[in-house]
Amino acid sequence: MADSRDEPLVLGIETSCDETGVGVVRGTTLLADAVASSVDEHARFGGVVPEVASRAHLEAMVPTIQRALKDAGVAASDLDGVAVTAGPGLAGALLVGVSAAKAYAYALGKPLYGVNHLASHICVDQLEHGALPEPTMALLVSGGHSSLLLSTDITSDVRPLGATIDDAAGEAFDKIARVLNLGFPGGPVIDRYAREGDPEAIAFPRGLTGPRDAAYDFSFSGLKTAVARWIEAKRAAGEEVPVRDVAASFQEAVVDVLTRKAVRACKDEGVDHLMIGGGVAANTRLRALAQERCERAGIRLRVPRPKLCTDNGAMVAALGAEMVARNRAASDLDLSADSSLPVTEPHVPGAHAHTHTHSHDHVHEVAKDNLYS
Ligand code: KG4
Ligand code: ZN
Repeated sequence: MADSRDEPLVLGIETSCDETGVGVVRGTTLLADAVASSVDEHARFGGVVPEVASRAHLEAMVPTIQRALKDAGVAASDLDGVAVTAGPGLAGALLVGVSAAKAYAYALGKPLYGVNHLASHICVDQLEHGALPEPTMALLVSGGHSSLLLSTDITSDVRPLGATIDDAAGEAFDKIARVLNLGFPGGPVIDRYAREGDPEAIAFPRGLTGPRDAAYDFSFSGLKTAVARWIEAKRAAGEEVPVRDVAASFQEAVVDVLTRKAVRACKDEGVDHLMIGGGVAANTRLRALAQERCERAGIRLRVPRPKLCTDNGAMVAALGAEMVARNRAASDLDLSADSSLPVTEPHVPGAHAHTHTHSHDHVHEVAKDNLYS
């Protein structure tokens, strides 16, 4: 095997939502994962406020980069590249990370890689379980997305098999937590309450699981309404709401559908690995049920540890390192943040479509091109 120091050393910046994440990765080895979150500033609004997030990113950006480099024990000049989430996400929030990444890439004379947030959520598992098998089936569940994705190469080929037609899984957790007055974000607190509740106490609906429904699409808005109505009826009758049982039964409805469809997709596509990523993959019950069902179906389950499931910079660095390792074209220094970057585009190659060569001069030429043209 090659000396690990030959593997690309990449800094990754993530600012698509409320987490300012900066990670440092060498190949598939995690060296640093610094995160500054503005989640507390959003709590009183019951959801992420874009303007508040952008301002928090701006304040946290440079100190978080410095902390990550220090934790990793590397100098900025040692980097082989700077990766950043180009999208999807909140436009203003993305812009802060993209601007910072450009500034560092230009000042250091390193190639810039604008990467996809969703592909990063998948690629991060390389830091935990080694190289991704190809193809990989991925269930991506976060506050903004719920998708089943099939990837033969995480740097170039991500195919969506299905997605939510309304709310994302994490969004459903957040909304139900609000109805139960449990605060924001809802996922972790519902997870906690559910541990002491009965998942079979209330039979909540399983969306899009009928014989004629799309096999790989998800829907959580009917479930959300059903739970809200059930709670209202209890309150109207002057009865106490059994918070733990509601949390457990709601959570069971979500993870039952997610795991059922993911296992079915693996079987249909003949894929014997399932990767689960995104914030909701931190859910204890989702992890347990997925493990149970995958084992029964002979599928190997890969789920990163919770800290790597929620938004972080290491996942961006992991995908950036893979881009460098596979000689993918770097992005131009006029890279734009794209709030609706399609999941099918793992990264944003430059218009010049130049392949990254370890020549820093070359990058400088491209940079000058962009600045002076
Ligand atoms: O991936 P992420 O950090 O940000 C987005 O890209 O959206 O995901 C955040 C979402 C939130 O909706 C949060 O409630 C949910 O992930 N979440 C969880 C858990 N931890 C975070 N949902 C269920 N159970 C958890 N333990
Ligand atoms: Zn995310």
